Amino acid sequence: MTTIYQKRRAAVARALKAAGGGLALLPTAPEVARNRDSGFPYRHDSYFYYLTGFDEPGAWLAIEANGHSTLFCQPKDLEREIWDGIRLGPKAAPAALAVQTALSVDLLDEKMPGLLTNQPAVWFPFATHKGLETQVDGWLAKVRARIRFGAECPHSQHDLCKLLDEMRLTKDAHEVAILRRAGAISAGAHVRAMQTSAAMLRQGVPGGLREYHLEAELLHEFRRHGSQFPAYTSIVAAGANACVLHYRAGNAPLLPGELCLIDAGCELDGYASDITRTFPAGGKFTPAQRVLYEIVLEAQSAAVKVTKPGKRFTDPHDAATRVLAQGMLDTGLLSKAKHGKVDDVLASGAYRQFYMHRTGHWMGMDVHDCGDYTEPGSKPREEKDALGQTVRRKPSRILRPGMVTTVEPGIYVRPAKGVPKEFWNIGIRIEDDALVTAKGCELLTRGVPVEADEIEALMRG
Ligand code: GLY
Ligand code: MN
Ligand code: MN
Repeated sequence: MTTIYQKRRAAVARALKAAGGGLALLPTAPEVARNRDSGFPYRHDSYFYYLTGFDEPGAWLAIEANGHSTLFCQPKDLEREIWDGIRLGPKAAPAALAVQTALSVDLLDEKMPGLLTNQPAVWFPFATHKGLETQVDGWLAKVRARIRFGAECPHSQHDLCKLLDEMRLTKDAHEVAILRRAGAISAGAHVRAMQTSAAMLRQGVPGGLREYHLEAELLHEFRRHGSQFPAYTSIVAAGANACVLHYRAGNAPLLPGELCLIDAGCELDGYASDITRTFPAGGKFTPAQRVLYEIVLEAQSAAVKVTKPGKRFTDPHDAATRVLAQGMLDTGLLSKAKHGKVDDVLASGAYRQFYMHRTGHWMGMDVHDCGDYTEPGSKPREEKDALGQTVRRKPSRILRPGMVTTVEPGIYVRPAKGVPKEFWNIGIRIEDDALVTAKGCELLTRGVPVEADEIEALMRG
């Protein structure tokens, strides 16, 4: 049976052939030291894993236009395996990974010039692996040194990311199945955090409920369902901390009258999930919190409605921003006398005082996944950028089935003159992951409630 990895490598080979031939080469990620004798948990390179399904460090892949794949991997080594764990090794790799050739990574420098000889081009990821360009230069220099003996040296270099980004942007059935499961696990973790928050505040925990207590609940839920890591550092933000966009879970106390914003998702089998929920720590929204919450939720619904084939990547952002801007005028966050009507607020960008980020990003193996945000093959045109400046750029990407984007509007109110005091220090974001389908989109992360009433009911229960 042909594996998905073989199919993807065959697609790369076809693309090399269509471009006139060449050799594609790709290392996995390096191991990174944390501090003396202690390393960060190892995470493979997403591109490498996409083409191999292999998650050991110290590995390289080379693909030729004729479809021949060579894997370089760590050699078997009993001494090292006693300390670090079993290695697949080059002997077992062809059967396990369906590559034609497997060699010890110790032979990389010796063998790579031979693989590059008589190839018209070399493809490798640009600006992603420190020192890779220098390594490729060294191998090319060795090929060039043999020109007098009839060797031909590649005369062009291409960014392999460009090719793989386009492939990775549209998720196949195997990827969608994992993304669905990752979304379900993360949704369960948010449910657990909400329930824990309400229960602990009801019980009155000695020392109080802290952000890290809820982070621990998230991690517990991710891991007990087989997730290998969080997809990114979890944000658990109590009260005013929610207005710091890149806040981490710290040790601030969660107070009954305040909101808690959690932005957290697990990584499962190499695929991310990305959910934000904002809930009242004690289980009941105050009137001011609820007013803003309903605006953000309405903005998200408007964005979800236009997350469908044929719409552009920027359409959900524009739809969300319009609802948020109207809500800011209605609540007095922006004064109508000063800022005019919703179209004036959109044109002036005044809404950015309370909504300063984009409404989505591609998601997949990486939480901020690869893929062009502009439509390939289209012509640049003049338009206004986020700061109102005229720029020339290609039109935004057309959404197609299989693409996955987040939908994550928010409102963040810092204390300021002219801003109604009742809204000060409220930060709200609602984020779900949307798979574009034939007719619209499927939200992969709705296993956790999003309606204010449903959140309150869950936290009562
Ligand atoms: N959690 C990262 C993001 O929402 O973009
Ligand atoms: Mn996100
Ligand atoms: Mn997020």
